[in-house]
Amino acid sequence: MSDIEGERVALSAALVVFGATGDLAHRKLYPALASLAGRHQLPRRLALVGVARTEMDDEDFREEVHKAVVQAGKDPAEQQAFENLDVCFRYVAGSFDDPATFDRLATVLHECDEHHGVEGNRLYYLATVPQMFVAVAHGLGTVGLTREKPGTFVRIIIEKPFGHDLQSARELNDKLHEVFDEHQIYRIDHYLAKETVQNILALRFTNSIFEPLWNRRYVDHVQITVAEKLGVEHRGSFYEQAGALRDIVQNHVMQVLALTAMEPPASFHADPIRDEKVKVLRSVRPFDDETLPERVVRGQYTAGVIDGEEVPGYREEEGVSPASKTETFLALEFEIDNWRWAGVPFYVRTGKRLPKRVTEVVLRYKQVPFLPLPRTAIDSVEPNEMVLRIQPDEGIELWFAVKVPGSPFRVRTQKLDFSYSRAFAEQPPEAYERVLFDALAGDPTLFIREDEVEQAWRIVQPLIDAFREGRVPLSFYPAGSWGPREADALLSSDDTWRNP
Ligand code: BG6
Repeated sequence: MSDIEGERVALSAALVVFGATGDLAHRKLYPALASLAGRHQLPRRLALVGVARTEMDDEDFREEVHKAVVQAGKDPAEQQAFENLDVCFRYVAGSFDDPATFDRLATVLHECDEHHGVEGNRLYYLATVPQMFVAVAHGLGTVGLTREKPGTFVRIIIEKPFGHDLQSARELNDKLHEVFDEHQIYRIDHYLAKETVQNILALRFTNSIFEPLWNRRYVDHVQITVAEKLGVEHRGSFYEQAGALRDIVQNHVMQVLALTAMEPPASFHADPIRDEKVKVLRSVRPFDDETLPERVVRGQYTAGVIDGEEVPGYREEEGVSPASKTETFLALEFEIDNWRWAGVPFYVRTGKRLPKRVTEVVLRYKQVPFLPLPRTAIDSVEPNEMVLRIQPDEGIELWFAVKVPGSPFRVRTQKLDFSYSRAFAEQPPEAYERVLFDALAGDPTLFIREDEVEQAWRIVQPLIDAFREGRVPLSFYPAGSWGPREADALLSSDDTWRNP
């Protein structure tokens, strides 16, 4: 990542938020700007331009943004730092498929250049529904707002979901490339902006002790868990179309898997890192029709109890069909066909309404070839494990057997534990702070390249087809449990999922 080379700077720019009155902008983007202000990381000159259908003027918009910062519970010092900044607030009311909206925007941006010194730099943030991505990009293209003049930048940040299958992702890439070059497009996966996800690279490629053990010779299998306590909240109708496969596996899981499994990059810069991620994604074995049902478990939550509170089943959620077949849980077995990982299964499980919010990667090591101890000398010896705790309680655990003090000679598994919060006083930036800062600084390392997004869709496409054709049965699990029992059978008979 280019910040290893020294100070990066967010350059003066107009940040144009499409969907400026929406949930994402209010809950994530505006509070992230305040945090960046608190860290003195915002550019010297910033124009914040909101675009949405709701009628309001520049002053209303300024008030809305400040209200969102307060509502997000931002530190008063950050709120103050944001208030003190010389941000130029502008607002353009209009619909995204009306060319007049873009004419008005062009005038406003020109005024920002003239009077606020943002120097022709533009960062467009598409915080809209995905159906609007192409309309906005082409609307900008039509009025010449996508061209980079010498010495300026024009970038576009696109939220997930990027397409809904392989073909639509390819079409979306093609449509965007009609008006933007690839180097201008910043596709978000907010998981990449998580400190502990980036720490996978630091851990693997800056330590000599782990890398030799990071391969098929020593690793028995890898487990990736992305568990959430939350249900679908108010996103039932969106989730009905997405399911866990499109919502989590195609993007967040694939990114975590790629960083865990990739080869060392030539350097920690955007393209060398992304080249290695694409290479390992290419090696992920396609699911074939014959073995697919044995390698996939689909589940949906029914009513249950979370933290002592009764919660409804998925089919009772707002916006969800009472006969829905959408999965809220998936357990999958991936194989990676390359020299490092041949024969090492990567087991993935993800779900909503599980007992805990936890994301972690576990490398479970092979057993020793022979245990020179009688069974009676073993209190509990489990295989060695390396656990990368992505969230919450970010850290790393290493589990190994030690002698129990005293006699007779007995051994038991214990852990070495590194905790981010104990080791470092400073709070890591929130994912959206990182996203905005990196895009303003022109560092695409933590964004997804065109070929990466297509590879990730290639991997999940056979699953999309199989689910649509009803070839993978849907099992049910009560909210508050670890998913359907069938998920346990995915692992080999002497293995279990780690209890996080
Ligand atoms: C989003 C999904 O991408 O990630 C949500 O659409 C999910 O359904 C969220 O809840 C999880 O993100 P995090 O950062 O809370 O792990």
